[in-house]
Amino acid sequence: MFDSGIGGLTVLKAVMERLPNESLLYFGDTARLPYGTKSRETVIRFSTEIVNFLLTRNPKIIVIACNTASAYALETIKAMVDIPVLGVIEPGADAALRATRNNKVGVIGTRATILSGAYVEAIQSRKPDTKVFSKACPLLVPIIEEGWIDHPVTRQITEHYVGPLLDCGIDTLILGCTHYPLLKPVFSAIVGPDVSLVDSAEETAAVVEGLLKQKHLLSKALRGPRCEIVVSDMHLNLRIQASRFLGTEIPRITVVNSEFQEITG
Ligand code: DGL
Repeated sequence: MFDSGIGGLTVLKAVMERLPNESLLYFGDTARLPYGTKSRETVIRFSTEIVNFLLTRNPKIIVIACNTASAYALETIKAMVDIPVLGVIEPGADAALRATRNNKVGVIGTRATILSGAYVEAIQSRKPDTKVFSKACPLLVPIIEEGWIDHPVTRQITEHYVGPLLDCGIDTLILGCTHYPLLKPVFSAIVGPDVSLVDSAEETAAVVEGLLKQKHLLSKALRGPRCEIVVSDMHLNLRIQASRFLGTEIPRITVVNSEFQEITG
């Protein structure tokens, strides 16, 4: 699986919890993040390069563990490989449709994810009469990476973003960014008990399991390393941030250069 950086570790964590026998390789493009502020062309180019790297390891499935890359590059990647490819958008859309009772769904994500309209399309192609209200939340990724979870500023900014969606009467809110599961307590406090939160990381892990079962690809015993993390830049704070997202100590991290060649372990 891959992500623009370490946020996708929320997806890795969910997949690890569900699939104890799978050997997982995670690539975080820490040299080039964020993707959420970049153009479609650039995100597709980066994603394609990463997938070419992942293919050298013969994966049986590729998970795009990044909402922005899923929004922009899913179709390109699907056309490029002959193994199953899964993004995080469709599992989130399905879960939102299961959760909503009044057909009013809110979606929050990076500017790129929201501008792409990918969630709106995924939801309305499944159930056209659903009203989808979207809001880009560009300040949340840096705040979460700073670890400001329990901070009054975070609460204030989150209220600013989510308030207009609540005013529209949504009863379901999709957390359409890898980073947002870390803010779940803040979102819950703001939206209250009558609005369901959809965590696309958890939903994606459930779909990965279903897909592997359906294709008879589920592993019965662990073969190979349980989890390998590869990044394109090892910045100073990486280890601390990464363990926050994974919820545990990070195993060995491998760093590759712009040619995807290993430079350190
Ligand atoms: N991983 C990105 C996403 O889920 C958030 C971080 C970024 O902008 O690269 O959209």
